[in-house]
Amino acid sequence: MPTNPQYINNSDAVNSTENVTVQALKEDVRTDRSFDAIADHFEKKVYGGLKGDIRLAVLRRDLFEYCAQTSHKLGRPLRILDVGAGLAQIAIELATQGHILVINDISANMLDKAQERAAQSSANDEKLNITWYVCPYQELEEKLADKTEKFDLIMCHALLEWLAEPAAVMDFFDQQLSDNGALSLCFYNPASFDYRNLIMGNFNLLDNTEYKADSKKSLTPNHPVAKEEVEAWLQAHDYQTLIASGLRVFHDYSPLKRGGHNDPEAVIRMELRYSQLDPYKWLGRYLHLLATRVS
Ligand SMILES: C[S@@+](CC[C@H](N)C(=O)[O-])C[C@H]1O[C@@H](n2cnc3c(N)ncnc32)[C@H](O)[C@@H]1O
Repeated sequence: MPTNPQYINNSDAVNSTENVTVQALKEDVRTDRSFDAIADHFEKKVYGGLKGDIRLAVLRRDLFEYCAQTSHKLGRPLRILDVGAGLAQIAIELATQGHILVINDISANMLDKAQERAAQSSANDEKLNITWYVCPYQELEEKLADKTEKFDLIMCHALLEWLAEPAAVMDFFDQQLSDNGALSLCFYNPASFDYRNLIMGNFNLLDNTEYKADSKKSLTPNHPVAKEEVEAWLQAHDYQTLIASGLRVFHDYSPLKRGGHNDPEAVIRMELRYSQLDPYKWLGRYLHLLATRVS
């Protein structure tokens, strides 16, 4: 039986079982996931509350000091790229600190929202130095206005798990990062899915090896990359990890909001404290690795 959908246009020759198989094959073809259709949903669900505040607090702590120190050492603002930037909060804040930003996303709706934020951030200040590119990151190389200058820092946050070929992004970083540049890689931690479902008693989900988040609006990625795999990529591409943090190492796991859980500031303080401590950090819903290339 032909398995490639393009060979089965003659429907008379195909019984219904085969049609189901073909439909499944079509659905299983992985593509990069644009957030164009879920931009509002993403903004509200991911960044509309404490979850998003924790995520941003950890990333700010990990990145801002590194950028300030590196910029001081180089005696100039950093050239920074954010791929799959979404609402680009961290990138915009780095631009307000004087760095030169290139912000990319495949989704025009996401970057429209980011541009509105940037306009609000710069209302009383000097104009921010940001160049925007709406395209898949795979097309960025040919579109970049300045093809000679490499980046001092590339941020790739919560993008890996939405890519059809996540490992390929490492070659892009190799081409675009300066010799002593740094990569800020933040990705969904599949171990957190298992741990949360263990705590919640959702053993049926853990027994079901075929489980996939079914809703088109779901923000749980179906193809997360395990920490060990990302670490192997970094090693193969000659990176050395400077910082490893977990984002939301306990907040998402607590069904009972009691005691300190009712104080958002205290939760952020504790998340920051435990985000870099073994073994807690490895249970974060997302992991953040800041790594430089060893030349
Ligand atoms: C989960 S969101 C993360 C947004 C942001 N980086 C953050 O951490 O909040 C993933 C983003 O990647 C974008 N995206 C998906 N595939 C892409 C690609 N090939 N090139 C550029 N952006 C892509 C989506 O449109 C979406 O805005």
